Amino acid sequence: MATQPPERILIIDDEPDIALILKLHLKQSGYISDWASDGESGLKLLHSNAYNLVLLDVSMPGISGTEVLRRMQSEDLDAAVVMMTAHGNENLVTECMKAGASDYVGKPFDIDDLLHRIDKAISNRRTLREKKLLEQEKEDFFFMLSHDLKNPLTAVVGSIDLVREGRLGPVNHEQTDYLQSAVESCEEVVAMIDNLLDTQRFNTGMIQPALTQVNLSTLLATAVRRFAPAAEREHIILSLEIPASLPKIIADASLMARVLANLIGNALKFTPEGGLITVSCSCRENSNLDSMNIPAYATMPTGLSEIHCFVRISVSDTGNGIAPDELSTIFRRYVQARNSSRRGGGGAGLGLAFCKKALESFKGCIWVESVEDQGSEFIILLPCYNAQCTSTHQQQEIL
Ligand SMILES: Nc1ncnc2c1ncn2[C@@H]1O[C@H](COP(=O)(O)OP(=O)(O)O)[C@@H](O)[C@H]1O
Ligand SMILES: [Mg+2]
Repeated sequence: MATQPPERILIIDDEPDIALILKLHLKQSGYISDWASDGESGLKLLHSNAYNLVLLDVSMPGISGTEVLRRMQSEDLDAAVVMMTAHGNENLVTECMKAGASDYVGKPFDIDDLLHRIDKAISNRRTLREKKLLEQEKEDFFFMLSHDLKNPLTAVVGSIDLVREGRLGPVNHEQTDYLQSAVESCEEVVAMIDNLLDTQRFNTGMIQPALTQVNLSTLLATAVRRFAPAAEREHIILSLEIPASLPKIIADASLMARVLANLIGNALKFTPEGGLITVSCSCRENSNLDSMNIPAYATMPTGLSEIHCFVRISVSDTGNGIAPDELSTIFRRYVQARNSSRRGGGGAGLGLAFCKKALESFKGCIWVESVEDQGSEFIILLPCYNAQCTSTHQQQEIL
């Protein structure tokens, strides 16, 4: 194992005696140290060498310790800082800690106490740096996922499409079916990557849904049409039951399309041949919400008591269902119910976590009702902004 180089400490103090004593003790404790007798020369050393920690006197001729600390922040000079003050001035100490100092000691100091604080500050800084590095690696990994994995897949789908559409020569029915299922498999991988990226973005607040008025009928019809070939292959009846006119919802159309794709995709994955999947939509008055037995994990966002009407979207199937103790947990990241292994359908357990986060960003919610071996119904509730249902004023408030 590689041995760590000794930690470097910079003492910035105008009193040579104190600096000398400190240097001796630091050397005995295994540290390398340098000394600067004023703030300006301390900053110069910080620019030319990497230090793990600065022992910084508060009152010095020339620029003060607080000013050195401020300049370290603005000039991006990264090191833990332990302030040394002879004044015991509480306000000054608070100011320094707020400005980023790790710790402080009062002069005259107890050397053991000071060494203990130095150890602690250096180890805290190391932990923080490791955490930052990990975060950076995670970010790089997500970037790699979105670009290096998704782009080639898009190219694969494009090429398959060329062949499938007969542009490179005639293809028969059987070949078209195989090419279609190849495209669907690629789309499944892309959807998994998107789910992973977006759940991460939702968790770090890096995603801002583009809220617009969304035509639900079109959205639902497009989603069902997309899965029609897969359903046909599995001899599953996939039907859409919606009233002639549906209110507009306010959502991010592309996120909403992916929510529906996840739910219909799941229904297909967990429904055996010959089953039935129904996508439906209707309106519900606010006063009826109580009778819907919405489970606690799907709590509606607050501030919607003025909304008169909600849109209820449902994706129900006659699949293998979900055990009662797993109904809430499947909405967590990476959680798959026991039924998944029975079906062996693959997946990473990210789809429903994405759906929950996405719907919450439109002030909606999702839950599931299920009976094992009979089927499941995933239910979405979204506030409805029909002119008759709610006032424009409320609509603007939500937006
Ligand atoms: N329609 C469904 N019928 C039965 N189980 C389901 C259904 N939808 C989801 N599940 C269960 O919830 C789990 C999580 O779903 P999801 O988050 O979409 O992840 P994945 O599809 O990658 O497994 C699934 O693995 C499965 O156990
Ligand atoms: Mg899924």
